Parts: sequence; C-alpha cells; structure tokens
Amino acid sequence: MVNRCSCTFQKGLNLFIKNISQLVTVASRGKGVAPGRAMRDLGVIRDAGVLCYGGKIEWVGGMSEWAREVPEDFPELDARGMVVLPGFVDSHTHMLFAGSREHEFALRSEGATYRQIAEQGGGILSTVKHVRAASKKDLKRSTTKYLADMLRNGTTTVEIKSGYGLEMDAEVKMLEAINELKNEEVMSVVPTFIGAHAIPQEYKGKPGAYAVIVAQEMIPYVGRRKLAAFCDVFCERGYFDTADAERILLEGKKWGMVPKIHADELSSSGGAELAARVGAVSADHLERVSEAGIAALRDSGVVATLLPGVSFFLNHGYAPARALIDGGAAVAIASDFNPGSCMSFSMPIMMTIACTQMKMTPEEAITASTLNGAAALGMSSTIGSIEEGKAADLILADVPDYRFLAYHFGTNHIWRTVKNGTILEL
Ligand code: NIG
Ligand code: FE
Repeated sequence: MVNRCSCTFQKGLNLFIKNISQLVTVASRGKGVAPGRAMRDLGVIRDAGVLCYGGKIEWVGGMSEWAREVPEDFPELDARGMVVLPGFVDSHTHMLFAGSREHEFALRSEGATYRQIAEQGGGILSTVKHVRAASKKDLKRSTTKYLADMLRNGTTTVEIKSGYGLEMDAEVKMLEAINELKNEEVMSVVPTFIGAHAIPQEYKGKPGAYAVIVAQEMIPYVGRRKLAAFCDVFCERGYFDTADAERILLEGKKWGMVPKIHADELSSSGGAELAARVGAVSADHLERVSEAGIAALRDSGVVATLLPGVSFFLNHGYAPARALIDGGAAVAIASDFNPGSCMSFSMPIMMTIACTQMKMTPEEAITASTLNGAAALGMSSTIGSIEEGKAADLILADVPDYRFLAYHFGTNHIWRTVKNGTILEL
C-alpha cells in the first residue's frame, strides 16, 4: 500500500532529493551542538532521500524506507553519485568592507607581521578609512557579489560584523547595510556589532575613553534599533583589555545582544575565561588559549570558534583544536573572511587547513562547519543539520565521499546549493 504524500506543489519550496549516495545528516538528535567526541558522528545514511516541503525538511531516510509517492508536479532531483550535506554556517566574518590590503599581504611575504603592520597605521585602521568614505550602497554592492559566490561554495548562513566604522555614524551605516542584505538576499545573514574592533585614530592611546563611547553611546543606539543579534569585542593587547571588554559585553547584553569575543588571538589574554564569565555564545580565534581557558570553555559550553584561514594567511600558529576537542569543548570553524587576516570565504578550504594543520578529522571539520557553526550563532534549532523540521538548506557535492570536500582542495565541488527547499540558480 503506497501512501500518497499530502504535500501540495508550492513553487520553489518543495523538493524531493532522491538516490543520494551519501547523506551526511550531522543529526544532533535534539542536542543542538556536538561537543568533544560527538563531533565525529556525522549520521551518514547511504542511498538516501530528503523531502523538503514548504522550505523545511519534512522527511529524511534511506530510499528503501520511502514508501510514499510525491505528487506528479512535485520537483525531484536525482542525486545518484552525490554527497548531500547541510549548508555551511560561516559564523564569523567581516565581509562588509571597502578597499583591499594586498600591499599588507606582500609585506608579510617579506617578513612583516600583522601586529607590526597595524602599529604602522595599516591593518584594521586602513580599512576603516575606506569604509568611512564609502556609501552604504557601495558597501552593499561588493558584499552582495561575495554572498553569491559564497552560496556557490556551499555556505547558506553567514554572520557579518560591523567594526570598520569605529564611530557612531559609520558603525550604524555598516549595520544598516548588513540588515538590508539580511532582508534582501537569499543568504541568511546574521548581524554582529563590534564597535570595539580597534582603537580609532581619534582615540589613539586612550582605549578606555573609546570603550566608554562604545558602551554608553553606540550600544544603546544599536540596541534600541535592534540592529545586531550579537555584540563582539577584540580583546587583545593594544586593543581592548578584559576589563573594557567585559564592560562592553555586559552593556550589550542589557540591550539584548548576546556576547561574542575575539579571544586569545595574538596573545593569551584571558579572553576565553571572560567568554565563560559573561555567558558568551562563542569565543573566537583562540590561537593562544591557555589550559584554564580550554577548561572554562568546556565547562561553560561556550562554542570555541576556530579560524584556520587566519593562522594560514598570517602564518601565526594554529589554535589547539585537538586539546579543545579532546578536552570536551564544542569546536566550530569559520572563515573570518576579511581583507586583512583572511581573504577567503571558502569553508572547504578552512576544513582542509583544519585537517592538515590542526589535526582535526574530516568528520570533526564537517561538524564544526555546520552544526557547531549554527550553535555559535544560537541557531542550531533551525539550521546546521539535515533533520526533520529544520530549514531545507542543503548542498549537493559532486564527490564520491564526504572526505573529498577537505581532501581534494582548491576546487569547488558544490554542484547545487538548496536554500529553503529551492535549488538556487547561481
Ligand atoms: O578577526 N582580529 C581582529 N579582527 C579581524 C581582522 C580584521 C582585519 O584585519 O581587517 C580578525 O582577524
Ligand atoms: Fe574576526
């Protein structure tokens, strides 16, 4: 007896993907995050199908269990020979910017460091000049192009930070642009406020005074207008110390912005411990995280977001992924796409670097780029895995095995990106 599926045709939001060679579900079974050892469990189903209905996942299983028929006009996609995974969640980027910094890239190739370049007026402050001078329209235009290319490369949700304005008007211009992209683009966009990204020229040598402006002027304005889901701080020697960072993050929290933190990147500054103390959703970077920091992340459940592309691009050492995972923390991977410290948004390349340089397994790298990335945005109840009820954000990769995504690097294996049950034409 064959049950007829009750779905009606709704153009674009319905899709039956059948005969999938390997379906990587990253199923969390309601847990919403995979810490430690659980990161290796990808929940792979062979010869599988996924039914998307009304933009959501309605059914997942082996083709042999599929006992229904979809209506005649229901769109179908034959995924024989394909690997299907959840769309990547890139939970940390600075992808709204103007100008570029290839001269810094060249200087580093001759031995200069990121910190030296920043201390000589380059780095974040050079992008700030360009962003302050750019119109909102221009900022949006360049980011829109990147968003389309990201979708082509398998990313279906991306967080975008402000932080190249460093004054009220320019920070607000950035956040308005990010929010408009969120409403206009196919990509799911998540806005984060990071007014405390660097000390602007006008406050040189006075980080405390600038931190007061961020906490007392910018945050209430951003909060009142609900321009950001998260509040982030670059907690680092020469940028914001833990006391200023804590003040800013707690103020952000009062206004409904969940704390995130750039922690322990260039030096061990207690950022991970601070993340645990203020109830951050994630602590990001962690190249120099201490043993105590690792324990604090594990015990608090703060997601440890690692940015392999930054270590690769700046050649400044990798975060201790093994110690974090073996210690029981939940690790996410993100690109940190920005013009200074990582000019790439390719999540598969981040996975390759994570495997070769940080000794994460391909399974851990996939969990880190999907479910745990979603957890780093507090969104794992709706995205990050292929489970019934979640958004139908999926990618079809033309590879014989999921490990090829990290293994066969430098080429785009994504054949189709499906967003809310719609096959995107990219
Ligand atoms: O995450 N570390 C601080 N901020 C960025 C770099 C931004 C830039 O250099 O423009 C990061 O690496
Ligand atoms: Fe960053």
